Amino acid sequence: MTEKSVLLIVGGGIAAYKALELVRLLRKAGIGVRPVLTAAGAEFVTPLSLAALAEAQVRSDLFSLTDEHQMGHIELSRAADLVVVVPATGDLMAKAANGLAGDLATTALLATDKPVLMAPAMNVRMWLHPATQRNLATLKADGVRFVGPDEGAMACGEFGPGRMAEPEAIFAAIVAMLAGEAAPSLTGRPLIGRRALVTAGPTLEPIDPVRFLSNRSSGKQGYAIAEALARLGAAVTLVSGPTALTAPPGVTRVNVETADEMLAACRAALPADIAVLVAAVADWKPAAAADRKLKKGADGPPALALTETPDILKTLSAPGPDRPRLVVGFAAETDDLEAHALAKLDRKGCDLIVANDVSGDVMGGAENAVALIRKNGIERWPRLPKAEVAARLARVFAESLIKGG
Ligand code: C5P
Repeated sequence: MTEKSVLLIVGGGIAAYKALELVRLLRKAGIGVRPVLTAAGAEFVTPLSLAALAEAQVRSDLFSLTDEHQMGHIELSRAADLVVVVPATGDLMAKAANGLAGDLATTALLATDKPVLMAPAMNVRMWLHPATQRNLATLKADGVRFVGPDEGAMACGEFGPGRMAEPEAIFAAIVAMLAGEAAPSLTGRPLIGRRALVTAGPTLEPIDPVRFLSNRSSGKQGYAIAEALARLGAAVTLVSGPTALTAPPGVTRVNVETADEMLAACRAALPADIAVLVAAVADWKPAAAADRKLKKGADGPPALALTETPDILKTLSAPGPDRPRLVVGFAAETDDLEAHALAKLDRKGCDLIVANDVSGDVMGGAENAVALIRKNGIERWPRLPKAEVAARLARVFAESLIKGG
């Protein structure tokens, strides 16, 4: 795992000296370390010893022009594969649980899209205080993992839980998380560190510079799914045909018009863990788009020769190193929904089809009634608002990615 790296936040506690041993273990294993030292942490270990062991620059200052010039704090929070807090003091846990971001360490914790591991260390009464236990529960619900604390004699002379886990144990937890072997969590933001690709909206296939073939897709369901996946922590690329919608917060939107452009943008967004292809891609395009506006004339309307557009779902579902672990297609049907969707699952090679009945006012409407179709069964959902359908679907996708199946 030579190419992996961790952002190591060193907090202010006597256990900070153990962070140096941890850095040594990580470097010996070929894992890169980007250290962030809090002001309190600098009271216990020096930037010089941390930098020498990490073989990397130590950052402390949120408002350092030199550091920001080299790598902004947001980028810093995402550049490593894992964020580790050693020691996680009562103060750091409280700040992270409440989303405070007053310095570089807490800003990195709030801005990161990577998994976070904390090794708490504090006095036993501080650890057992309801406030800390509340913060621990909040952080766990947000998806933060913990190693330790251990029980034993403490530097302050008391005995009990609060001793930081030994560097070897923290190292083992880091290696397991980097290898994706840590027990998966479905609470909080289970898709943190995962990449998702969503297509949405119609495509627009030009006939000539002013005319095109398209369809009535509003993009609402696809946008809602992109938003729901981002809420679960995924880094989402939304490849969108022309719609009247604004990009959901935290989602990277790539605008396209034609099916060919959509396929190219999807390929560029790989690798991804999940691909959810919701776009209503035009099935046909004019065989050759005229480069000048077609004129009305005595010869009557032009004959429109059509060819097929690329099937993006089928292409991304094909086995290969770039195939996302979970590929989801949509089937908008007006009749015999389930039989058609089952056939589509087979034809396209995807893992799951979300079938929706578009015989009513679903296109452009606010609600959707869907059925989930897998090889081994069908699950029908009631009619629900599109945002609720999206939230439930995102949970199902996360679950099947984490548990498999
Ligand atoms: O074949 P049909 O259009 O009914 O299949 C619908 C599913 O396939 C949707 O998930 C849609 O996004 C996807 N699709 C695609 N590329 C196409 C046609 C459909 O990705 N050219």
